[in-house]
Amino acid sequence: MKTYHVTTFGCQMNEHDSERMKGMLESLGYREVPERADADVILFNTCSIRESADSRFVGHLGEAKRLKSEDPEKVIGVGGCWAQSVKDDVFRQFPFVDVAFGPGQIPKLAEFLTSDSITAQGFFEFESFSGHLPMKRAREFQAWVQISVGCNCKCSYCIVPSTRGREVSRSPHELVEEIAKLAQDGVREVTLLGQNVNSYGRDLPTEERIRFSDLLREIDAIDGVDRIRYTSPHPKDMREDVIAAHAELPSLCEHIHLPLQSGSSRILKAMRRTYNRERYMDRVAMIREHVPDCAITTDIIVGFPGETDEDFEQTMEVVEEVRYDGAFTFIYSPRRGTEAATLEEQVPHEVKRERMERLVDAVQRLQRERAQRFVGRTMEVLVEGPSRTDASKLRGRTRHNKTVNFTGLAQPGEMAQVEVTGATSTTLAGEELLLSRALA
Ligand code: SAH
Ligand code: SF4
Ligand code: F3S
Repeated sequence: MKTYHVTTFGCQMNEHDSERMKGMLESLGYREVPERADADVILFNTCSIRESADSRFVGHLGEAKRLKSEDPEKVIGVGGCWAQSVKDDVFRQFPFVDVAFGPGQIPKLAEFLTSDSITAQGFFEFESFSGHLPMKRAREFQAWVQISVGCNCKCSYCIVPSTRGREVSRSPHELVEEIAKLAQDGVREVTLLGQNVNSYGRDLPTEERIRFSDLLREIDAIDGVDRIRYTSPHPKDMREDVIAAHAELPSLCEHIHLPLQSGSSRILKAMRRTYNRERYMDRVAMIREHVPDCAITTDIIVGFPGETDEDFEQTMEVVEEVRYDGAFTFIYSPRRGTEAATLEEQVPHEVKRERMERLVDAVQRLQRERAQRFVGRTMEVLVEGPSRTDASKLRGRTRHNKTVNFTGLAQPGEMAQVEVTGATSTTLAGEELLLSRALA
């Protein structure tokens, strides 16, 4: 039996594409091995969102090169966003690579492996969905579901539209069917994926076209689905129907990721985000009105070209006003082929670093403060496994997407009732209410 090994970089979309790659390879009779050195087919699913993503991956390729020189029979494959962004240059930069393919060409990997092709090949059209391939899930009770791929936005800093192509939504019937099957198979939590998940459906033919909130409603009605999450929504498409769905649908979790990027309307305009500070804050107010306890998290970029001290202060103000439950913070990184990379006033690295430090301090303080509201409450936790820091404890997540480390008896995949006894900026601590188990 032939063997494979996949290393995944980047976002959940890539993690999920890797599950599809693995499912496809297993259907061809390949078996996964934990060590790269033992694999006949060595794959990398790459990311290119920031420069650091590129360099991390290139380090790993060095080992693949060595393995290939020891055993030329091995197949080295490079898929994903980095491959898509450099296309056939993959083979010029790394002549030992046998096959390269973009995110829309995963099935071509199977074609390559089953043909007798001995020459290196690259596949970079935007054609197919990995959503139709078999999948190998990392956890039996949690699943990712790609509802759309690609992005029609033109954010001036972002490489994704060029690596993932135009937005294409999957048919709602197909999605509901797939999720119903997952639920029968033991999945309790689904995370809907899309680059711009809440613009779902606009490209569908009229007879199939439904709104994102309608899709949420249909998934909520599926038996066995206890939790629905989605990522990433765009603030411009965060309409009242979607926000209200969080209050109305029992399985839709009390967590909304609402990427801010900058608190300065001037910078938002240069980023081509199509909303300004006021409109963003209106969305936040609407969330607080419909779902007062909702966790709100975000993405923020510091040091976008032309960002002044005043612009950055505005970002800090928004952070303090919203009081985020969490934030991913990034230093702006110029990407090849993007509009922002050509802008003149690039911010000096030292300034970016200082701003980042201040932002991270504020984010952590607010995260810690916000988490205190959970202390003393009994919360539903989906158990994921043993705690990473203390093997005698369990780890799981609340509907607000907070990680909890707790003492208890529950098994992975079960919902436990946990009394929260403490909170840091990153995790909650607690104890399972065993009486509720005895009664259940
Ligand atoms: N489609 C999603 C996710 C995009 S990538 C969305 O729009 O929210 C995740 C995050 O990476 C972005 O939200 C942004 O904050 C960050 N990012 C994207 N390009 C970047 C760049 N060139 N430099 C720094 N951060 C970047
Ligand atoms: Fe990139 Fe903007 Fe699309 Fe997100 S919405 S993937 S940041 S272009
Ligand atoms: Fe990276 Fe592509 Fe995701 S660039 S963040 S893997 S969409």
